[in-house]
Amino acid sequence: MTILLQHPKFGVDAKTAPQTDELILDHSFVVPHTNSYGHSFRDYEAENERSEIVEELYRLSHINQTYDFAQRMRDRYSSLDHVEMSIWECCELLNDVVDESDPDLDEPQIQHLLQSAEAIRKDYPNQDWLHLTALIHDLGKVLLLPSFGGLPQWAVVGDTFPLGCAFDPSIVHYEHFKSSPDKKIPAYSTQLGVYSEGCGLDNVLMSWGHDDYMYLVAKENKTTLPPAALFIIRYHSFYALHKSGAYKYLTNEEDAENLKWLQIFNKYDLYSKSKSSVDVDKVKPYYISLIEKYFPPKLKW
Ligand SMILES: [Fe+2]
Ligand SMILES: [Fe+2]
Repeated sequence: MTILLQHPKFGVDAKTAPQTDELILDHSFVVPHTNSYGHSFRDYEAENERSEIVEELYRLSHINQTYDFAQRMRDRYSSLDHVEMSIWECCELLNDVVDESDPDLDEPQIQHLLQSAEAIRKDYPNQDWLHLTALIHDLGKVLLLPSFGGLPQWAVVGDTFPLGCAFDPSIVHYEHFKSSPDKKIPAYSTQLGVYSEGCGLDNVLMSWGHDDYMYLVAKENKTTLPPAALFIIRYHSFYALHKSGAYKYLTNEEDAENLKWLQIFNKYDLYSKSKSSVDVDKVKPYYISLIEKYFPPKLKW
């Protein structure tokens, strides 16, 4: 399947900009047309060295990410008993991680974090919470490391989707859901499945991965980041919702508000994966000050 991309325009699409005074764009963010491999972003049919690895990851994800599996992972990681460290220590640790689901990225993860954060900082100078959100949104990928349980790629990275209800055809490599054990459970096969209309995403079990894990870490360590930040962290890989508009019937009013911020954030997450390095030492003091503002010095992971 190819995800069709409207050819990114320069600046940010005003159509997706929320209708509040806070969200005015200054159009300074320049969207690159191609990723690190010279292809369109999120092109899952591009012939590059990583496309087969990416498809295999989604095949395994769609077979193994069951309702039961995601629930067990949430229970296991909610105890946050793996490691104690600061946010910045985790940013550095993330350099040891390779995300096989990503057809666009061949840079160290800390560069992706800082590129996203610096791009969004330029366009939203007064929303410091958004800069920090960009910096930390992918820290949950440490789940791949042995000290965090060494989970396989399919349980950490890639697009996420709701469990306990029918899979939407807009999910990347949807065809591989035909082998999901949850397909055989009638209660999970209707549009609403085990949920009620407008129940709110907080009541929906998502496939397990770095999004939900980092959300748990931030929440349980009592971050003072606003709800929109936690929503961005938790659902930034939920492309079926924020890119394709699927599963809106599960959202409530609060989700709809937060979704506006996620759609803004997503452009910076996706399109900052290009070849322009950020000088880590230069920007580090700014991000350390944000970490001190919104997080305790050490967090449980
Ligand atoms: Fe991510
Ligand atoms: Fe990211």
